[in-house]
Amino acid sequence: MMPRQFTSYFKLISHSPEQTQRLGVSIGELALAGDIYLLVGSLGTGKTCLTQGIAWGLNIKEYTLSPSFVIMRELHGRLPLYHIDLYRLDHIEEIEELGLDDYLYGDGVCVVEWAEKGLSALPSEHLMIQINYLSDTERSFQLKPSGKRYREILGQLRHLSLDS
Ligand SMILES: Nc1ncnc2c1ncn2[C@@H]1O[C@H](COP(=O)(O)OP(=O)(O)OP(=O)(O)O)[C@@H](O)[C@H]1O
Ligand SMILES: [Mg+2]
Repeated sequence: MMPRQFTSYFKLISHSPEQTQRLGVSIGELALAGDIYLLVGSLGTGKTCLTQGIAWGLNIKEYTLSPSFVIMRELHGRLPLYHIDLYRLDHIEEIEELGLDDYLYGDGVCVVEWAEKGLSALPSEHLMIQINYLSDTERSFQLKPSGKRYREILGQLRHLSLDS
């Protein structure tokens, strides 16, 4: 019999953009070189808002606008942040053609918006963050780890509260 993989999910609710940024800051503070964060969620759910928080948590002072027109933006803080947005990706082969592997397997922290568009070409070990729209101001965040490193992060985030 195959050993059963223990999967643990972590779900939390954000009641405002600021709370979403706060979740991002906590992730950014914990992030290590090589980490992969895959953001999945429909238009306007808060992927860029969360990324902004991650950037702040990495001590990046620049404002993280949605890269929409570029597939990759590189920002510099405690570690490099590679902010990838696959919204405009038409073919999965583009991930290789664009040389994104250099970033995905590089020395920085990768945050990928619209990760569902490129899942099969993205690293299999990652923290998936699935965002769902609940209401005008509320979003649910489901954190799903693949791999030891990401289960570790989940353990560190488990006691996080977004209310201040
Ligand atoms: N709890 C919340 N968390 C995050 N954003 C929220 C929340 N409540 C409302 N919002 C609003 O939702 C919008 C989220 O925009 P954002 O650009 O982060 O989404 P996105 O998922 O990156 O969109 P896109 O698919 O276009 O890249 C913002 O206008 C923000 O003010
Ligand atoms: Mg966005």
